[in-house]
Amino acid sequence: MKVCVLPGDGIGPEIIAEAVRVLEALRSDGLKIEMEQALLGGGAVDATGTPYPEASQKLAREADAVLLGAVGGPKWDNLPRPQRPERGLLGIRKDLELFANLRPAILYPELVNASTLKPEVVAGLDILIVRELTGDIYFGEPRGIEQRDGQRVGWNTMIYSESEIRRIGKVAFEAARRRDKRVCSVDKMNVLETTQLWRDVMIELAADYPDVELSHMLVDNAAMQLVKAPKQFDVVVTGNMFGDILSDEASMLTGSIGMLPSASLDANNKGLYEPSHGSAPDIAGKGLANPLATILSAAMMLRYSFDNEAAAQRVETAVKKVLAQGLRTGDIWEEGTRRVGTREMGDAVLAAL
Ligand code: IPM
Ligand code: MG
Repeated sequence: MKVCVLPGDGIGPEIIAEAVRVLEALRSDGLKIEMEQALLGGGAVDATGTPYPEASQKLAREADAVLLGAVGGPKWDNLPRPQRPERGLLGIRKDLELFANLRPAILYPELVNASTLKPEVVAGLDILIVRELTGDIYFGEPRGIEQRDGQRVGWNTMIYSESEIRRIGKVAFEAARRRDKRVCSVDKMNVLETTQLWRDVMIELAADYPDVELSHMLVDNAAMQLVKAPKQFDVVVTGNMFGDILSDEASMLTGSIGMLPSASLDANNKGLYEPSHGSAPDIAGKGLANPLATILSAAMMLRYSFDNEAAAQRVETAVKKVLAQGLRTGDIWEEGTRRVGTREMGDAVLAAL
């Protein structure tokens, strides 16, 4: 398996280094993996003038999977839109047709106090947000800012075709089959036609999955229910924009976004794997970042793209062991645990492995 590694910006290179060490350890145990690095994001803009340069496109297209750190930072915030680091991320998602974004929100028992919610509300939380990633208002045309009747007007297009809805729906139903067999589809059908179609297609699709229970929720209520009673959810499926917002909310239920991995898959389980958090420019280069979300993203890569459940579980078990040993990076540190840096956390995972 060929893996394209994109460290990116900010803490990206530091956290990726630890995930790569984990994969190298598995390789010395027989995992067939080749890794090659390329540029994405702000660093790519500095070096080549564009956030997703051709050399990276070539490597990413040829690879079986992509492992990404994080992109962006204040240095590039004022660049014109096509050169923003985020455009590199959106570009690679679209280029590789990574339409299915899986964002699990799991509460590790050792970290129950990291949440701002009461322990009884979040203890045992295990939900999966399935976010459509290559459509919706993010990519809809036409779009722009222009002068109309003497003032500026900005507009975007929210659009979904039924085939786009059906393929993300399938991913959600299949995922639910491997979990608690419940899918909650989130829309805004009381106002938006796009999401009326979304709901109609989900209902049609449900006929193919009689063993999975389908429910529907309006997005505003879903935002409320996620903090009120998050454990009512198993799999949540929604569009690109609602999914962006709800997945950040869901990640914070656990209080430790530094722990949460994500996968973005195409129709053949080629995937891009990245931590759910950002590039944290404030702590970049200081060796303080939590590498666990990236290491867990590598585990997701082993599960979905390598189809190697045993290796995935081996990595996840090592991470749990390290938490049980009481090691914590600053983001998840609490009284009575031992504060460690990025490298020491990586060392501990390697030892546990
Ligand atoms: C995410 C991020 C991106 C998104 C940004 C950086 C473009 O927020 O992966 O959730 O909006 O999809
Ligand atoms: Mg987001």
